[in-house]
Amino acid sequence: MPVELHELPPELRKSLDEIGNLGVSEEQFHLTRKRILDEAATSETLAALDAVRVAALGKTGVVSIWLKLIGGLPPENRAPASYRFNRLREEVQVAIADRKAALDRAELDAKLARETLDMTLPAEAAPLGSIHPVSQVMDELAEIFADLGFAVATGPEIETQWYNFTALNMPETHPARAMHDTFYLNAHDGEEARVLRTHTSPVQIRAMQAAGGSKPIRIIAPGRTYRSDSDATHTPMFHQVEGLVIDKGITLGHLKWTLETFLKAFFERDDIVLRLRPSYFPFTEPSAEVDVGFSVVNGKRVIGGSDGWMEVLGSGMVHRSVIAAGGYDPDEWQGFAFGCGIDRLAMLKYGMDDLRAFFDGDARWLKHYGFSALDVPTLSGGVGA
Ligand code: DAH
Repeated sequence: MPVELHELPPELRKSLDEIGNLGVSEEQFHLTRKRILDEAATSETLAALDAVRVAALGKTGVVSIWLKLIGGLPPENRAPASYRFNRLREEVQVAIADRKAALDRAELDAKLARETLDMTLPAEAAPLGSIHPVSQVMDELAEIFADLGFAVATGPEIETQWYNFTALNMPETHPARAMHDTFYLNAHDGEEARVLRTHTSPVQIRAMQAAGGSKPIRIIAPGRTYRSDSDATHTPMFHQVEGLVIDKGITLGHLKWTLETFLKAFFERDDIVLRLRPSYFPFTEPSAEVDVGFSVVNGKRVIGGSDGWMEVLGSGMVHRSVIAAGGYDPDEWQGFAFGCGIDRLAMLKYGMDDLRAFFDGDARWLKHYGFSALDVPTLSGGVGA
C-alpha cells in the first residue's frame, strides 16, 4: 500500500512537512503508522486488538482526527493529504482484520485441542433418569412391527370430530360417540369443536389420505389418547397403538397371523394362545376382540397357557366406508386394523398393577420400573431387553 512519499503519484507527491498546517510532520506520520501496525500485529487478545482499532479509527482515534483536519486545508493540499490518510486508514483496517482472523483461528484450534472425546471409552449408563416403561414398550412395538414391514405413523392429539368419529363410520348420532367419554375443546369462529382424540384410530384415515388412495399401507401408530375416565385401570390420558394394513386380497387370516406373531414376540413366549371373540366396532366389519391365555403361577397371572383369558386388543377387517373415507376404493382394496392399550401391555409384561402410578412421576417408581437408556430393544436380543 503506497504511503511512502516516493511511491505517490507525482501530482500528489507533497510531504506533510510541506503541507504544514496539519500539526503532523512526515516523521511523526511514519512513526505513528509503524506503531499502530505493530500493535495490531502483536495484539494477543481480541480485546487488545479492539483497543488498537479504537485508538486509531475510533471517533477520536488518531487517524480519524487527521482525516477530519483535511477539510481545513487550502484546496491544493487536500488531495495529497487525503490520499495519505485514507491509505493509512485502509492499511490499519486490513492489519486489524488479518490479526482478528489469526486470533479467531488460534482460539478455535485451542478449543479443539481442549475438547477431546475418547470414542473408544465404553459408554456409561446414566446415573440418573430412566426410560419410562411406556416409552420402552413403544420402542419394542416399533421394533417388532418394523421386522414385519410396518412403518410408524403419527397424527395430532387435538383432532377434528370428522377424523376421530365421522370418517371412522361413527356419524353424529352414533351411540359409540357417547361411549368414548370425549373431551371437547371450545369451538372457534363457527368451526366445529375439536376433541382430544379418544383413540389412535383417526391415524388410519390420515395414513390412507397420505398414501393417496393407490398404495398398499402397513403402519402402526403409537401415541397419547384421552378420555374422561379415572380409576385403577383408567387415566384421562393413556396410550394406544393402532395398526393398519391396506392392500389387495387381505383376509382375516392375515390379521390373525400378524397379531399372533406380534404377541409372541412381545411377550417373548411361544406358548401364547389367542382367542378371537366376535365383537363390534363401528370401523371394522367383522370385528373381533382378542384375548390371550394366561396361566396361574404361584397365585399370579402369567401370560401363556390357557387357564384363563385376558382381553388385550380390538381388531377387525376395515369397514368399507372407512376405506372410502380414507380415499381408497373399497371394491379394490381391503385391510385389517387393530387397536391396543400400550399401558396395559406394559402392565401385563412388566408386572405393575396400578395404572395411575405410571403418570405420578414418582422417582422411586421410575427407578424400579424404568429402563436404562442402553436397553434398546432388538429382536435378536429379545425385545424386552
Ligand atoms: N379404537 C378402538 C378403541 O379405542 C380400538 C380398536 C378396535 C382399534 C378395533 C381398531 C380396531 O383399529 O380395528 O377402543
